[in-house]
Formats: sequence, C-alpha cells, structure tokens
Amino acid sequence: MDHFALRDGILHAEDVPLPSIAEEVGTPVYVYSRATLERHARVFREALAGLGTGEQAPLCAFAVKSNPNLSVLKVLQQQGFGADVVSGGELIRALAAGMDPADIVFSGVGKTRAELELGLDKQIGQFNIESREEGEELSEIAVARGEVADAVLRINPDVDAKTHEKISTGKAENKFGMPLMRAREVFAELAVLPGLNLRGVAIHIGSQLLDLEPLETAFAKIGTLVADLRAAGHSITHVDLGGGLGVPYKAGENPPSPAEYGAMVAKATAGWDVKLTFEPGRVIAGNAGVLLTRVVRVKRGGNGPPFVIVDAAMNDLARPALYGAWHDFDAVEPHGERMIANIVGPICETGDTFARDRDCDAVASGDLAVFRTAGAYGATMASSYNSRGFVAEVMVDGDQFAVVADRIDANAIMDAERVPDFLT
Ligand code: LLP
Repeated sequence: MDHFALRDGILHAEDVPLPSIAEEVGTPVYVYSRATLERHARVFREALAGLGTGEQAPLCAFAVKSNPNLSVLKVLQQQGFGADVVSGGELIRALAAGMDPADIVFSGVGKTRAELELGLDKQIGQFNIESREEGEELSEIAVARGEVADAVLRINPDVDAKTHEKISTGKAENKFGMPLMRAREVFAELAVLPGLNLRGVAIHIGSQLLDLEPLETAFAKIGTLVADLRAAGHSITHVDLGGGLGVPYKAGENPPSPAEYGAMVAKATAGWDVKLTFEPGRVIAGNAGVLLTRVVRVKRGGNGPPFVIVDAAMNDLARPALYGAWHDFDAVEPHGERMIANIVGPICETGDTFARDRDCDAVASGDLAVFRTAGAYGATMASSYNSRGFVAEVMVDGDQFAVVADRIDANAIMDAERVPDFLT
C-alpha cells in the first residue's frame, strides 16, 4: 500500500498534488512519501518482531544502496532501522543520517583497505566478509590497531533465486560469498585469526524475489551449516539473512507479504538461537517513490504506436534499460482515455525506452505523468549521461514537501572538470 492516489482527478503524494511539485521544482523529479516509508518500515519490523527479544531482537538494516537519500535514511533511522552499507560512501551517509554505528553492517565483495579501516574507525557493528582474503586483511588491520572486528562470513548457497540474472547473487557462478562446500574450511581458518570475532554467517541470494521457496531452500542450507559449525566447536551467535523480498511492479504480480516472509523465517530459523539481521531495500523504498516527468511531445512514427517522449530518461531511471524492468506509467491528471504507446526518453540511444506497446493513460505534450514504484534503485542509479544533470528528489510529508536533493545541473557537473595547461 502506498500514499500516491488520485484525488479530484489529480494524482497526489499524500496531501500534495503532484502538479505543485512539478511547478516549484521542475521535472523530472523523484517524489518520496514519508508516510509510505514509515508504513513499510513498520510492517516489516512487525512481521519480524517474534523472532527474538533482548540481545537477540532482530536488526533491520536498510539496504542503503536501494535509496541512499539522507532524508530517506533519516525516516528509517527514526523507525529503528540500522543500515546495510556496501561502500565507504554509504557508510558515511548512514552515520550522517544518525544511524547507530552498532546497527550498521558492511557488506560488499570488494571492500578496499581504506573502507575496512573506515568501518573500524566508525566502530560499525559487523563486517560481512566475502572471502578468506578479505577476512585475513581485516584481521591484520584490526590487530595493528589493537582491535578485534566483529564479523560474519557470507555464504553462497548455490540457490537459483529465480529473478533477473543481473540481480541474482546466490548461485555458484555469482561472485558473492564463499561456496557452501568451502565454508566450513574457510570459517575454521578465519575463526582463529586474532583480529576477528567471527560470530556467524550471512547470505543474500538476490533481489526482487517473488517466491519464498528459494529463500526457504537457502535458509535450510544455512541452518545445516550453523549446526555443522557449532559441532566443529565454533560459537555462532549471529546470522544475517540479507534482503531480496520483491514488490509488485505491475498488476498480477503478487510477491509474498512481509508477514508471510516473517512466518517462513520463523519456521526456517526455529531453534537457531541467534540474533538475526535483515537487509531489506526494495520492499521498504520501492513503492514509496515515483518519478514525476513531463511529456515533451508525442511523435507519430511509422506504422507502430506513437512515441511518448518524456523529459525523464534512462540516466534518471535506469531499470528499464538495464533489466527490461516494468514501471507503471500513469498520467497525473488522467482523462479516462487510453492509448497504446512507446514511452521513451530524449537520450540518443534506443535503450532509452521505458516501455513498448504500453497500454497507458492517454497523454499529450505538456502533460505530467509518473513512473511508479521508483523509490528503490531509482535516483541512486542515476547518471549524467548526455550531460543531462542529476535528477532532483523531493519528500512529501502530509500537506508539505521539501527538496531533499537538489538537481545538479550540467554547469555544476562541468565545474568539477579541469582543462589542463597542456591543452590551452
Ligand atoms: N543485501 C545485499 C548484500 C544486497 O546485495 C542487496 C541488493 C540487498 C541486501 C537489498 O536487496 P533488496 O531487498 O533491495 O532486494 N539495481 C537492481 C537491484 C540490485 C540489488 C543488489 N543487491 C534493481 O534495480 O533491480
């Protein structure tokens, strides 16, 4: 459920009509709903509430990569969320949003030495180590500082998450984690290192999962591994189950609800006696944002449907171009008529196509429209391709709204460039 709905024929974000945002901030612009973020955070947290108490109360660590906007992070921090970060930049953002360092987990297959050091400097809660080599390096750095780093080992369970191949992460051929067959051996090697407190394991098998079955299979494998590691004498107190829960992008998609997910987790982890961490991204932020855009013009092409050319492009919302992803396209002031259209941006490549042969609200030049479910992996994946500048972001709260990220225009980007003396 989200807070983007028609009122008196005009699409609103909470109590704010979208045309007022377009008028004040211009387009394209991402619009986030605070109430929606809060609702999703609450529903997710409540779905997991029964999974442990006290020291073992589950940690919800928002996957910052899905939406790193400071104000979004602030809302989630206020909801009791920590952060799953995958770079020094994300770590700095999570801290700037006021997240407790103890509630920050550092994932990522290629953490640099500087990033490992930053994590130690900031005394984050946990490093999710992806390889023996990374564990050895972290231990060595920690020892030199007279510290011990809390860590878990990420496991690659070799499970097909049945999602887009570019966002599947738990198959043997993916770069993530230690293969299950080597996990025991590597865990034993790392567990004895003086700079590591290796206290558990982590997995994350992929994103936009529409079925619980692959997660269940992966969790069962982790359960067996935990038992094996304990039998080998290791103390296992923490398990990080990652993120991945999908959201509905189009009619007919019925991803499992957080409650169904929570019930499955409760069953799969019964008797584990650990503190669980979750790293949800999309399920929290996806439906909490839309990309508001204006139709530049409608171009009649050859014998196919017309091209609706909007002022947003693949640099602002990359998912359709990258993954062939579907985002609903709705007029802000629909008149009841429909059209079949190719919805495209102005960028000079055919990949800059949001939708082909789409049955959508009829729109004309100058009309406002939105791409829905753009709150996750939207603005964060933007680029300045075609020197279009970086898209602005707005947050709505009831009947008020604020720009939470300025549009960075072509001039500002050019300001970071230099023409060296040898060219002048
Ligand atoms: N934890 C780890 C270690 C991850 O790699 C990811 C996502 C998450 C958590 C959060 O997953 P979520 O709950 O959001 O599914 N750009 C792609 C998605 C890439 C996901 C990468 N990892 C997209 O636009 O669909």
